[in-house]
Order: sequence, then structure tokens, then C-alpha cells
Amino acid sequence: MPPRTPTPPPGVDTILILDFGSQYAQLIARRIREAGVFSLLVAPDRPAAELAAMKPKGLILSGGPASVTEQGSPRADPRIFELGVPILGICYGMQLGCQILGGRVEAAARREFGRTALRIQDAGDLLAGLPDRTSVWMSHGDQVADLGGAFDVLASSETCPHAAVRHRGGRFFGVQFHPEVTHTPHGTDLLRNFLYAICRCQGTWRMRDFADLAAERVRAQVGRDRVICGLSGGVDSSVVAALLQKAIGDQLTCIFVDNGLLRTNERALVEATFRDHFEADLRVVDASEAFLADLAGVVDPQEKRRRIGHRFIEVFREAAKGVGGARFLAQGTLYPDVIESGHGHAGTAAGIKLHHNVGGLPEQLGFDLVEPLRDLFKDEVRALGEVLGLPSQVVWRHPFPGPGLAVRVLGEVTREKLALLRQCDEILLEEIVSHNLYRSTDQTFAVLLPVRSVGVMGDGRTYDSVVAIRAVETQDFMTADWARIPHDVLATISNRIINEVRGVNRVVYDISTKPPATIEWE
Ligand code: XMP
Repeated sequence: MPPRTPTPPPGVDTILILDFGSQYAQLIARRIREAGVFSLLVAPDRPAAELAAMKPKGLILSGGPASVTEQGSPRADPRIFELGVPILGICYGMQLGCQILGGRVEAAARREFGRTALRIQDAGDLLAGLPDRTSVWMSHGDQVADLGGAFDVLASSETCPHAAVRHRGGRFFGVQFHPEVTHTPHGTDLLRNFLYAICRCQGTWRMRDFADLAAERVRAQVGRDRVICGLSGGVDSSVVAALLQKAIGDQLTCIFVDNGLLRTNERALVEATFRDHFEADLRVVDASEAFLADLAGVVDPQEKRRRIGHRFIEVFREAAKGVGGARFLAQGTLYPDVIESGHGHAGTAAGIKLHHNVGGLPEQLGFDLVEPLRDLFKDEVRALGEVLGLPSQVVWRHPFPGPGLAVRVLGEVTREKLALLRQCDEILLEEIVSHNLYRSTDQTFAVLLPVRSVGVMGDGRTYDSVVAIRAVETQDFMTADWARIPHDVLATISNRIINEVRGVNRVVYDISTKPPATIEWE
């Protein structure tokens, strides 16, 4: 297992987040990073002395799904309140802190989820600069019913009289709402007040520091052993490879499998980036024959995925054997993948599946994993990629599914159909990029439909393929809306595809949202 709780770098302002299993714990960490402060998630029951040894400027007690009124619910060492550093409790963290400091928590008359109006009574410190009335995001069943005379109320809502409180000692603050979510519009201001005015952090932490620290951690984990990194050409694996190249240089071998299902120039871009620019030991395995043979005659999408997944593992295993003596496998696991598999700190963060990740390699390959991105969100990974010097073409790449064009050639996959789709996709992307729409859409691609339609070209009648264009806007790929691409851009795309790609006489634009449609067509 990779080390779960690294030590903070010396001399850097650090906030420790005690993670009580909130689905938002990493979001808190992320907001703190955005504010330029280093933060670490730690197990909630770490002894106070161990936390003190990390020299934090402040602690945050996260929310969590349990109830402090239940026996066996997660606890913190009560001596954290004797460390002399400011502590902010959020939701469960507030209730726990108030309970330890003399308040009483009970089930609220009504569970409360969603947006609530907050009235601010004391804007002296934590809530300084916030408007008197603002909205906040609540998600709780319990609340602090009695403050035991030990707290001042800073803000309240209609159903929650103690929505924000300060302990009379001045070192503990509690908020019943979630400042870390975007539905709390002034949440960032609150967190900044805590970090700068209350904890006196400097705000000097930057992504470049993260790159240095992550490289240091990788070196500590792998020692002198060899590491293999499977490159897919996507953002995550590219950032991992760039980071590892920086961290361990020639102890790294990258493997790129050409499965014959890639887009135009994809392999060339990976080769140019990693072999020429980063001077990495890159091994390209051309296994397209085997993949295409496996797909012959297969029309069912899940069967395509299954066969591609199996072949990929087999090819990768062989290639890895050829590297010799490697002990570690580097993977671009991101934080959303971690919650998806329920491996958060308290192991209780509710898992919501982000997408089918067939690119992952099974544990039976026998490697120890190096996962330097597992605390980061996608946009932070992109920022890291930029810091590491990856070209913007790689950093801002739209996601591309593991099974590649096989799920965009509907029905049976053949070399001819792949070649045709590649041409359409290339034209589409050229136009999207040249009209500055690549960054404003989140995924844009062409799909070759398994039907033919009638057309006229010159004097003749044609009976050719139909290509669908899909462009979506989405935050998390779980819901998506179709992008409102200007009609004249669609017209250019359509004209170019029909004129330049032999075998296509009709282009349609997909105007379905997800749900109920999915982003891919298969
Ligand atoms: P859907 O089509 O489910 O796609 O709305 C959501 C996101 O997941 C990607 N996707 C895949 N990624 N293997 C992958 O690695 C797959 O089999 C796969 N299927 C869909 C899709 O491109 C979109 O970004």
C-alpha cells in the first residue's frame, strides 16, 4: 500500500483535516489547496500528540455520515482541544466538537438537506465580510440543541438556531452547513477567514510545490526499484508519467499499447511527448492485429469491451515481462476513482460510479501500485500537468474511452470503418479547435452509425454511411447536456466531412442529454 499519511514538508503551513468519512472531505482539502495552503487528510482518531508532531496551523473536523449520539461512531482524541491551534468543525465535526466542549447534540425535529437562508449575527472573525443574509448548503439529521453556555452563536437559520458557533475559548468554531460545496456561495470566504485570519496561514502553497512533494513521495516509496507506467495518451496517465520522469528518471519505463482503435496521430503525439520531449524509456507495443482479430464479427458493445479488456491485460502483461525486474506499477487513479471504490480515509464515503474504467489493470499482475494523483481532482491534475511542462494538447485533452473507437463504430468493427471514422473525427476536431470550442466542450467526437442512407452526388445516387457528431458539456460525466455549437460551425463540419470523406453522405448532430442517453453511443 502507498503511504497513507505522509508528513508535511518542513516549514510549510499545514492544515490537518480529520476525515470522519464525509463525501466532501477531499473537497475541503481541495478548497484549502486552492487558497494556497497545504493540507492533509488524516484518520479521525489519530492521537493528539501525533497530530501535534505534524505542526499544523489548524485542524478541520470534517462531516460524516454517522451520528455523534450513537455509540461506536467515529471520535477524535479530545486532547486536540488542548493543542492550542484553531479548529473548525463542519457538520458532524461541529457536533462532535460541541459535544466534547459541553454542548448537547440531538436529532433535529426535521432532517434538513439543501439550500437554506443563513442570518449572520456576529461577523467578527469566521464570518467577516459575508453579507448579513446568505444561502448555505445543509445536509444533516442531528444538530447542536444546547450550547451548554460555552459558545457564542455567529449565525442561524430558520430550522437551525446554532448554524455557526464559536467556543468562548476562541479556538473552536463550528458550522452546521457545508462551506466547501459550491452551493454555499460564500463558503470559500469563510474558509479563507479560517485559514488566514484565524490560523494565520501565509497562502504560499502552489501546484509547483505539490509536484515537488509528490516526486519526493514517489522516490521514498520506490527506492531504487524499477517502475512501469501504462500510458494511454489520456491526461491522467500522461501526468503520472511526466511526474515519475521528474521523480525517478531512468528507473521508469512507459508502455503504450497501440490497440488499433486509436484516433489519428494519437500514437505519434505520445511518442513525440514522451520519447522526444521527456526522453522517457517508452515502449510502444503494436497489438492492433490481435485486437482487431478479437473484434471480428462482434456487435454487442459489452462483448467488445470484454474482449478488448482481456486482450489489453494480456498484451500489457507480456510487455511488462519484457521490462524485467520492475516492482511497481504507476497508475493515474484520481480522487473520484478512490471514492468510487470506497477507499476513502474512513472508508465510508458514499461511492458513486464515475464511469466504466476498463483501462485499470488487475491486482494479479503482482505489482505494488504507485498512485501519485489519488488525492487530486481532474482540474488539479491538469494544473499539475501544466506545471510539469506537458503540452497543452495533452493537458486539455478530452477523455477518450479505454475501448477507443471500437465503441464509436457501432456494430462490427473493421479496419475500413475505423479508417473512415478516423477521418471524420480528425475533421471534426480540427474545426472544433479552430473555432475555439475545444475548451468550452468537455467531450466531442464522431460516431459511425451502422446504417446507410440515400443521397445524391453530382448526377448519381449514393447509398453511403451516416456519421453522428456528439459534443457535450458536463462537470462530472454523470450528467451532460449537448453543446450548443453554432449552426455555421456545424455546417462547416458537415460540408467538410461529406466532401472530404469518401463513403459518408450524411451528418447528424446528437441533441440528447444524459440521462436518459449516455455520452457514448455504445
Ligand atoms: P457514458 O457513455 O457512460 O460515458 O455516458 C461517460 C464517460 O465514460 C467514458 N466511457 C468509458 N471510459 N471505458 C472507459 O475508459 C469505457 O468502456 C467507457 N465507456 C464510456 C465516456 O467516454 C465518457 O467520458
